Amino acid sequence: MASHLSPCCQIIVVLLCCTLCCCNISCRNEAGEPVDWFIVYKLPLYKIGKVGSGVDYMYMDSSTEGWQMSKFTVNISQGALWSTLNQLYMGKTYESNSSVYALYNDAPPNMDYIRGYGHTKGALLFDRTQGFWLTHSVPHFPSFPEEGYIYPSSGKFFGQTALCVTYQYEQLLRIAQQMAYIYPRFYNCSVPDAFVADLLQLAQICGGTKPPLFSDKRVEHLSSVGGEKFISFVKSERFVDDIYTGWVAQALDADLLVETWQRVGHELPSNCSLPKHAMNIKRIKLPWSDQFKSSYDHSKWCVSQAYEDQVTCLGDLNREKAQMWRGGGLVCSFNPLIYKAFRQAVDHFISC
Ligand SMILES: *[C@@H]1O[C@H](CO)[C@@H](O)[C@H](O)[C@H]1NC(C)=O
Ligand SMILES: *[C@@H]1O[C@H](CO)[C@@H](O)[C@H](O)[C@H]1NC(C)=O
Ligand SMILES: *[C@@H]1O[C@H](CO)[C@@H](O)[C@H](O)[C@H]1NC(C)=O
Ligand SMILES: *[C@@H]1O[C@H](CO)[C@@H](O)[C@H](O)[C@H]1NC(C)=O
Ligand SMILES: *[C@@H]1O[C@H](CO)[C@@H](O)[C@H](O)[C@H]1NC(C)=O
Repeated sequence: MASHLSPCCQIIVVLLCCTLCCCNISCRNEAGEPVDWFIVYKLPLYKIGKVGSGVDYMYMDSSTEGWQMSKFTVNISQGALWSTLNQLYMGKTYESNSSVYALYNDAPPNMDYIRGYGHTKGALLFDRTQGFWLTHSVPHFPSFPEEGYIYPSSGKFFGQTALCVTYQYEQLLRIAQQMAYIYPRFYNCSVPDAFVADLLQLAQICGGTKPPLFSDKRVEHLSSVGGEKFISFVKSERFVDDIYTGWVAQALDADLLVETWQRVGHELPSNCSLPKHAMNIKRIKLPWSDQFKSSYDHSKWCVSQAYEDQVTCLGDLNREKAQMWRGGGLVCSFNPLIYKAFRQAVDHFISC
């Protein structure tokens, strides 16, 4: 039928289809195409002996077989982070009653820091079919939807990571339970009435109420649209312990090498006093990049020391004393490609 239309009308029909009917909400790859999951590692400005741009990044998804140097930078309107978040910004999706979304950050853009929320950063956007959950380490990001995509200049200095996973709507009901524990600061959100019965905790947090909890921490198994398995570990501020040593290493039954941002004088040392150990990474080496020090890396991730355990987690919390009293979590994967990419990036760690 479209062949009877003039070429110009055909283009309009195709464009309408792309915005209205064909594209589920998803994580998007570097080319803007739907993807099951992706990981971004933004490199720090200061590497050992070299000053970089502060905006270049490595990219990985299930099709890249490990890290790829992105041809884009994080602060332009191209690439995976932009393409993914643009689904909220574009066409004023944030005003729609048929989707639910939340932008959250303990350090939101253009707003003062308020104590009492979880130390956690991310974004979620779903309709009744599916959507994405993006977790990351960048303060003051993402921007308010009316402003469009802005990468904050404060986010250029340190290394940062982001993990995006595409889930069916049914998984959002589980994610909502996890959110109650980490108690994120939703600085911009919408949970339309039609979603409230399913997503009570999200509606409560969006409305400024703290949901009631039945314990101090919680584990949830999640499965992406592509069938990839993830495990979400979350703790509330009432579980007063280092999440890595006091819980996740023991729960996964694996010694962990942990990369977090540790301020001088506040850091928790490598800890081998429980059956499974948590040891601090001090230097990182990614392919096509010079080594950089952990003190220039604001990302929060860990890998099992042993290759047999094959576990990688990305998350919210630093190995720092004050963060024992904060809500936050980790999303863990047993994907061998993710494991290899992160395990090989460990250049130096402190054994006990
Ligand atoms: C949208 O997602 C649903 C469920 O995840 C799937 O059944 C459907 O085929 C998807 N549609 C497109 C166009 O990808
Ligand atoms: C992105 O950041 C780089 C490095 O700070 C800067 O030179 C460039 O102008 C920025 N681009 C945009 C579009 O903001
Ligand atoms: C969305 O729901 C609100 C509250 O029920 C209503 O006031 C508003 O008009 C709706 N917007 C659209 C675009 O349907
Ligand atoms: C945040 O989100 C709401 C609902 O989606 C919107 O109406 C509001 O204008 C947004 N912006 C700010 C700056 O709060
Ligand atoms: C090691 O970690 C555990 C759990 O967080 C803690 O109870 C213990 O005091 C720590 N040991 C040292 C030597 O820091």
